[in-house]
Amino acid sequence: MLIIKIVFEKLEIALKSAPSVASRTMADSSPLITEVSDTARWVAAYRAAESARPDALFHDPLADRLAGPRGRAIVGAAPRMMRNGWNLAVRTKLIDDLIAAAVGDGCDRVLNLAAGLDTRPYRLDLSAEFPWIEAELPELVAEKNSLLADEKPRCALTRYAVDLADADARAAFLEEALAGATKALVLTEGLLYYLHEPDVAGLAESLRRPEIGWWVMDVVNSRAMNGMNEHVGELISNAPWHFGPDDPLAYLAERGWQALEVHDQFAAAARLHRLPPSFKPFSDLPRPDPRERVADRLWSAVIRVTH
Ligand SMILES: C[S@@+](CC[C@H](N)C(=O)[O-])C[C@H]1O[C@@H](n2cnc3c(N)ncnc32)[C@H](O)[C@@H]1O
Repeated sequence: MLIIKIVFEKLEIALKSAPSVASRTMADSSPLITEVSDTARWVAAYRAAESARPDALFHDPLADRLAGPRGRAIVGAAPRMMRNGWNLAVRTKLIDDLIAAAVGDGCDRVLNLAAGLDTRPYRLDLSAEFPWIEAELPELVAEKNSLLADEKPRCALTRYAVDLADADARAAFLEEALAGATKALVLTEGLLYYLHEPDVAGLAESLRRPEIGWWVMDVVNSRAMNGMNEHVGELISNAPWHFGPDDPLAYLAERGWQALEVHDQFAAAARLHRLPPSFKPFSDLPRPDPRERVADRLWSAVIRVTH
């Protein structure tokens, strides 16, 4: 336990010593992230960069178009520690694999909530009839529809404009989107930390429906959330992180969701050779059991839960 604690303290020191965004943006007056939907461009830019690598973990040929100049500028403004997008590349790969496994296991629909500029319906190996449903805030849906107007998804894609923090709108959306499903997978990738806790609790409750077999998401604990707000705070001042419980798995279990799979993102990044150089000295050290209490260490994971 002592070794593990030292590792995470050193990681936090490494994050703290990353160059500050403030120094880069001093001359710029307009924020790169003006609202939460701009974070979707940031993610797309990381996916474009990963796709360009000779050893890419996935290929997302549309990501560069979707990221646009603003997405690339956000990457450039992020602390150096984040610039290679290790976390996002690993998260995308883990979720791609979880979806493929679920489809093989009888999943009959995917609901991607807060789909952002994700392009899985255009790049995953899915049948033409497979129902894939995206939900996003209205302005980003309009932009995505326009940017991808000439592209054909591989599956049966439907896109909804909906504010998932609006309980009535969310309930109406779920009612329609789940009609006829018996084993749906719900994905919330990169969403929860942008929501306030009551909205996450409401979402967790509203997803406990018989049509839904699994919920896949990425989660951070309070220490990781606080670290993000502290060290990337200026860049995300218009989209700060709000949700990061001390122990995310316990939080979900209290709301009826049990973990089936837990993929520690640091461990996955080490395995997939995506850790930034300054993190590498820590990669050979033993990783803690992800199911133990995580409140006292920096922790983020991709998880698959059921109810
Ligand atoms: C970090 S991006 C992730 C996007 C996408 N899931 C991906 O991984 O590429 C977060 C997304 O959450 C969306 N979002 C945040 N709050 C939302 C809400 N209340 N309703 C719908 N979407 C929301 C944003 O618009 C943004 O696209």
